[in-house]
Amino acid sequence: MIPKLVRLSRSAHKDRPVAWDRYWAGINVTGAGGEVLWDSGTDNEFLGYKDVLVRHLDPELPVVDVGCGHGSFTRALAGVFPGVIGVDVSAHAVNRARAESVLAGTKAGRLRYEVRDMTAPGAATGLAGERGANIFIRGVLHVLSSGDQLALVENLRLLAGRRGTVFLAETNFQGNPVDYVSHLGATAKGIPAPLERAIRELPMPGHFGPAERSRVLPDETWELLEDGAVAIQTNPMTDVAAQSLIPGYYAVARPRS
Ligand SMILES: C[S@@+](CC[C@H](N)C(=O)[O-])C[C@H]1O[C@@H](n2cnc3c(N)ncnc32)[C@H](O)[C@@H]1O
Repeated sequence: MIPKLVRLSRSAHKDRPVAWDRYWAGINVTGAGGEVLWDSGTDNEFLGYKDVLVRHLDPELPVVDVGCGHGSFTRALAGVFPGVIGVDVSAHAVNRARAESVLAGTKAGRLRYEVRDMTAPGAATGLAGERGANIFIRGVLHVLSSGDQLALVENLRLLAGRRGTVFLAETNFQGNPVDYVSHLGATAKGIPAPLERAIRELPMPGHFGPAERSRVLPDETWELLEDGAVAIQTNPMTDVAAQSLIPGYYAVARPRS
């Protein structure tokens, strides 16, 4: 399987934002059984986060879903919080998120989307008012380089201001790339289509757990309110339910003033 993985992953565009936008441009079907690897097509994972979000996020502030993709979590957030903004580096992702939100009938007043590279200097400017914003981020930090993680977190700090809180949920799979793709259903005979597409078109993901959190959100500048293990739910690609769950990590943190 290793030569095939190497050959597939070599074809991903080296410029990460370009790779992401090309990926989203080619997506036609989302949800369970669709083409997106990290889309379970259900609210189950979000519902597991809901109590944590309600416990810590100031309901008077908007919530920014950073790296919102096709907006499945953004729409779920809009069912709980009065103002939600989905942002993504990919214009094709944002177009898709807007279209799916119209189809889902999500109240337009509660939800808007913007194209932004959240690692770019100034990316937080104008997204929220002076009071700041809460931030929801799922499955984004583990796909960034360590330098881009730091740049993105600096924008989150500026966006949160004095009152905002960050909730993050990331995959934290311990093992090498062969272990990872095998866990998701790849065998010597074949690789499930959503997984093969991700390997072929996207940057190689890493993992993000407590060690990475304390590097990019250090205790001197961030107050850790809560963290722990979580299961990141993916598109079911085999008959074994456990294979669609990736060991993950969540954390809730607030900038120290
Ligand atoms: C694995 S997907 C997760 C999407 C969504 N959060 C979810 O869980 O369904 C990662 C997303 O991050 C976006 N992304 C990657 N780099 C980004 C950046 N620098 N700024 C904003 N979004 C970014 C990608 O386009 C992609 O939609």
